[in-house]
Amino acid sequence: MDFAITLDSNSPLPLHQQLYEELRYCILSGRLLPGKRIPSTRQLAKSLGISRTTVTQTYDQLLSEGYIETVVGSGTFVCTQLPDDLLHSTPIQSTGKIARPPIKLSKYGEHLTKTEDVPRITEPVKPINFRYGRPAFDQFPIKLWRKLLSRYCCSDLQWLDYTTDILGYKPLREAISRYLSRSRAVNCEPEQVIIVNGTQQALDLIMRLFIEPDDVIAMEDPGYLSARLIFQTQGAKLLPIAVDESGLVVKDLAHYSSEQIRLVYVTPSHQFPTGAILSLPRRLELLTWARQTGALIIEDDYDSEYRYGDRPIPALQGLDHSDCVLYIGTFSKVLFPSLRIGYLVLPKSLVSPFARAKWLSDRHLPLLEQQVLADFIEQGHLERHIRKMRSLYDRRRQALVKALNVHFGEKATILGEKAGLHVMVRLQTPLSDEEIIQRAALLGIGIMSAAPHYLRPHSQGEFIFGYGELTEQQLVESIGRIAQILLVSR
Ligand SMILES: Cc1ncc(COP(=O)(O)O)c(C=O)c1O
Repeated sequence: MDFAITLDSNSPLPLHQQLYEELRYCILSGRLLPGKRIPSTRQLAKSLGISRTTVTQTYDQLLSEGYIETVVGSGTFVCTQLPDDLLHSTPIQSTGKIARPPIKLSKYGEHLTKTEDVPRITEPVKPINFRYGRPAFDQFPIKLWRKLLSRYCCSDLQWLDYTTDILGYKPLREAISRYLSRSRAVNCEPEQVIIVNGTQQALDLIMRLFIEPDDVIAMEDPGYLSARLIFQTQGAKLLPIAVDESGLVVKDLAHYSSEQIRLVYVTPSHQFPTGAILSLPRRLELLTWARQTGALIIEDDYDSEYRYGDRPIPALQGLDHSDCVLYIGTFSKVLFPSLRIGYLVLPKSLVSPFARAKWLSDRHLPLLEQQVLADFIEQGHLERHIRKMRSLYDRRRQALVKALNVHFGEKATILGEKAGLHVMVRLQTPLSDEEIIQRAALLGIGIMSAAPHYLRPHSQGEFIFGYGELTEQQLVESIGRIAQILLVSR
């Protein structure tokens, strides 16, 4: 009996695997019916011109999976008792794949396929990059980190096991709660802290626990695109609230109740992307509104560590007396983003559902990094590192602002330079954002438009200049070169 079986000697798949796929396909498509005898290993090896060992290996696999059976003295046969759902009632495609009804995604999955920004791939990859949210990697105290890592790596091997503390490594939660009450006036006990895989996971958990499709979330406009994508993917409706030089315009919320708005997302320390700092009166106004309506506030306190000049304003969470605030912080900027460690500080009554949702989603974060980070904070390295970086970023910020003023003069309005690791710049130019980005790219400079962060239509010409990872010299030189792009077109 000859088989029309194609084996490809150039294929990355080994021959026995190719033969297995082909025979399995013949059985499932009905070309080899149940009960039908198949050639002996010797016959098949000969007719295909391959070794008998290869055929034996394939037959062993088909035997163990129940596709074929051997009858002593008679030969090898296709099993008569193949499970019904594997049989040829299912049509076969010419590729050898079994056709099946189209795979249906959930509403969540559908949203994701329509959202081109997930994953966001528009970040410029250029020699000089004004990307936002990147710290100066070359300043990270890598030797110290390695020392702490090796201490835990070498001692007892408990960290290899699952951890039982579903809120996160307890000494780390203790260290974070002390750090937050010192530096941000956050009111919390370690039992209210959940260690998460960065801000994104905190937002994802909040969505799962509070939001049904069509619930309304109010957010700053412009606002953080990555937060918006999570909200929209969950099927929430977004209510854009304007931002001015004092941050979110809280009075615009006054017309709405908690039936209308479930959550408000704010970035009070350094509004993303405008950089406005939410004033104290606005913070109090927002808390009063939330208390009266019962809505919850998501406080994304990113960039709170980098404040230049004025004294920091306490976190909303620390001013809240009615459990309205879900507080989020991250180590992505003060340490490094691939660490993927952040924290959620929750009202006590909400800790349990969050802890369960977190456990279901990923059990817990790697223990080793949590142990190292706990020591890093407790031994004072974190605050020392932040102090050092604050003065470095301050110098970089000043160099950038000065260069923008020198080269653009009145044609550039700089926003949000009092905090954080980026500024937003409004440029007066006849060129479109796309054209400016392309011209900068030709110079090897990556810049990012603020446009994707807007919910409502708005005028062009706004750019986010991240300066964390660029030296003063790089900042000054590249701003001079970008200015030339615009001067040419004036
Ligand atoms: C507004 C805002 N929140 C949070 C983050 C950090 O996110 P994660 O902790 O997921 O790295 C960023 C990073 O750029 C940000 O811009």
